[in-house]
Amino acid sequence: MSVHSNVKRVTTHTLQEMKNSGQKISMLTGYDFSMARIIDASGIDVILVGDSASNVMAGHETTLPITLDQMIYHASSVVRACNRALIVVDMPFGTYQGNSKEALSNAIKIMKETGGHSVKLEGGREILESISRILTAGIPVMGHLGLTPQSIYKFGTYVVRAKEEEEADQLIEDAKALEAAGCFAIVLEKIPAELATKVAKSISIPIIGIGAGNGVDGQVLVVHDMLGINNEFSPRFLRKYNNLYEQMMTAFQEYIKDVKSGDFPNENEQY
Ligand code: KIV
Repeated sequence: MSVHSNVKRVTTHTLQEMKNSGQKISMLTGYDFSMARIIDASGIDVILVGDSASNVMAGHETTLPITLDQMIYHASSVVRACNRALIVVDMPFGTYQGNSKEALSNAIKIMKETGGHSVKLEGGREILESISRILTAGIPVMGHLGLTPQSIYKFGTYVVRAKEEEEADQLIEDAKALEAAGCFAIVLEKIPAELATKVAKSISIPIIGIGAGNGVDGQVLVVHDMLGINNEFSPRFLRKYNNLYEQMMTAFQEYIKDVKSGDFPNENEQY
């Protein structure tokens, strides 16, 4: 039980037990209080305060511009909304690469100022020193391999990663290194389903996929994408569970019509 509610909190241990017993893990992104409150009440296992906030909340083309303080603002709003889900906070671009001491102090800042439960970092062996140092402070770390959007200017495109044997072999080695370092889970983004299944079978920690097929231990989607809020984004891996773009457009247009015609507010909608 959490200190403030009767709901049993999902922990990193819960996720490991879920993998061990073959139960799939559900994860969605969340960036603000109102949406996170609904996602948490739905019974989701994990909410990722993703640096995709840079795209869906701030309208940037990539995830690179979002700052540590902006991520802390989003994450603290999400934490205030949630009783059940494990909250993972993305460390933004430039806050953990290159200097593991800075990585640790940035991770500590996230934990102190947001109340989140863990952090996520993109990359494999090249950021192992940062991951290991963060783990020494008792901060749980989720890894992220495959298509890592913070490296978009290295990749040049958002196409599927690790289709060739050499990159696939490197990804497997990276996953093993993250497991050995002590990460509690790994996100695999946009890689062939066969490779993702192989990783999930050969690694003991939970593997969460996005565009990585069904042979992994859980799935994550960006909440705005699965709700159909962005009607211009329809990659093959995305299942849309609603068409909120259309529904919201209709609601806004009806409101405008009612205001213009004088139909709103009516007698019952005033004091
Ligand atoms: O930032 C994000 O939303 C992510 C997910 C796509 C895994 O990292």
